[in-house]
Amino acid sequence: MFGLFKKKKERKEVDFNYDSIMVDMHSHVLPGIDDGAKTPQDSVILIRKMMDLGIKKIIATPHVMIDFYRNTPETIASSLESLKAELKKENIDIPIETAAEHYFDETFEQRVADGKLMTMGDNYVLFEFSFINQPPNVIPVLQKMNDMGYKPILAHPERYPYMDLEQYKNIQGWGCSMQLNTISLTGYYGKEVKKLAEMLIDNNMIDFISSDMHHEKHASALKDALRCSYAEKLLFDTPLKNKLLF
Ligand SMILES: [Fe+2]
Repeated sequence: MFGLFKKKKERKEVDFNYDSIMVDMHSHVLPGIDDGAKTPQDSVILIRKMMDLGIKKIIATPHVMIDFYRNTPETIASSLESLKAELKKENIDIPIETAAEHYFDETFEQRVADGKLMTMGDNYVLFEFSFINQPPNVIPVLQKMNDMGYKPILAHPERYPYMDLEQYKNIQGWGCSMQLNTISLTGYYGKEVKKLAEMLIDNNMIDFISSDMHHEKHASALKDALRCSYAEKLLFDTPLKNKLLF
């Protein structure tokens, strides 16, 4: 009987989507410049799925990483242009802006100091850590970001298994916002990531949520995430800041 109940619960349909957040501000839908969409046609498939889930504006954030993806404002602008041409061809009307997902590598501090970060909204900067170990100098770099007038947002804090609540609080204390990947709630990245995601939500530490969309599996997981009770908590009980970027 419990088995039957569980099955029914898993199939629960929901009558809401992501329209309350309006803006998805972390995605890899720009074609051909990182590990996300490969072609403008791939991008269109992903963008249609995001629109079906209620997203009204997309901020594309290609990786900027010295070792793998040396994207610049120029590579990003040219990819955006090819995407916009494809969207026009397909009669798809949705605002797309660009920023970047900056990797906290050995070049990041210098790029902060040079004022060379790609921003969204009111000078917000999305950045990510290594998945293996926390980089040194995090706090001094956050201080420098504040001094430069940047507003840091840590991408998917739940994906860094070496972090604990105190470390998150410390980083947040230095003015850093937190952006959760909504699909973490489905267990997409594993049980530990899901647990950290739930812990961060329980501690009211999430400021933004987004898809981190790279491919169609992420799109399916984004839809599945709506069935998670924590997604409901985020969408209805958490003062998320996504809308500020509309
Ligand atoms: Fe990403």
